[in-house]
Amino acid sequence: GDSVSIGLLGLGVVGSGVIKLIEDHQEKLVHQLGAQVQVKSALVRNPEKARDLDKERTHLTTNPDDVLNDPEIDVIVEVMGGIEQAREYILRAFSAKKHVVTANKDLVALYGKELQEAASKNKCDFFYEASVAGGIPILRGITDGLSSDHIQQVMGIVNGTTNYILTKMNTEGMSYEDALQEAQELGFAEADPTSDVEGLDAARKMAILGRLAFSTDVELDDVEVTGIKGIELEDLQNGDKLGYTMKLIGFANFDDKKLEVNVQPTLLSKEHPLADVKNEYNAVYVYGEAVGETMFYGPGAGSLPTATAVMADVVAAIKNMRLGVTGSQVAESHFEKELKPADQ
Ligand code: HSE
Repeated sequence: GDSVSIGLLGLGVVGSGVIKLIEDHQEKLVHQLGAQVQVKSALVRNPEKARDLDKERTHLTTNPDDVLNDPEIDVIVEVMGGIEQAREYILRAFSAKKHVVTANKDLVALYGKELQEAASKNKCDFFYEASVAGGIPILRGITDGLSSDHIQQVMGIVNGTTNYILTKMNTEGMSYEDALQEAQELGFAEADPTSDVEGLDAARKMAILGRLAFSTDVELDDVEVTGIKGIELEDLQNGDKLGYTMKLIGFANFDDKKLEVNVQPTLLSKEHPLADVKNEYNAVYVYGEAVGETMFYGPGAGSLPTATAVMADVVAAIKNMRLGVTGSQVAESHFEKELKPADQ
């Protein structure tokens, strides 16, 4: 029957999750799309490396043109990471009129606006659900689920590594160093965990959330960041005795044209829904004028969870393609942004 071909840029933890998810859930995809989805080719560094993969079905290549210029491929999935190379490939994909799905938070935080403009110019979709909070469908929750509401505030635990460290310190009295090492061994810390513990990873995700929640430009530089380095066990324990739990909270608020986005260690009342989010889990709390309090909870990383977010975007892009429309997730900016003075 009918089939839609996608191409992968990168075949690491997330890329192989995408292939597995498509295989395991092919029947459901066919029901939704009336077509098979197949990963026709994947750009990799070493095609000889042993992989759990049917090479008859998915062609492995070291030449980006095999993926970017293949006329049979309609959707490019960028899961290679890094910034400049990924950016160049995505721009080339748009020039070749291909829709792009990415999991790359660093790239979207820095170049989201440029890439969205390139996508729109070429009438292509550009989606990045997996870039924030892994498996949690939070971007679609905001842009689709709450599209008619006026979002007033977003608060998130969007970095699993720091939440793991704070949880282990708080509940087991573990040292900061030991907890960080465990997070690294479990595989959700960044290659260089500095960006986790200094809050930069969370800041990137909050910049993306802020853009979508408030339909305005949010640059990474707009986000004030304090990480969890230097947090003492004693600080946590004292807070705990008084009924508070220390969390690294990303906060985004847009009121009276004043935008405030920050990431900082925060003592949350144990009554707050985010206070119960433990270990490496993520959660995003969204307050909307009409809906009131909502909270989206789930895994912020991992192969199959993140692959579900990637595939949500792939399915959306294919549906749009069928309808002959594109669906930018960023509404035309309808607010004038004014940065809140730092002293407020
Ligand atoms: N290093 C990130 C985290 C991985 O700890 O949440 C997911 O983006």
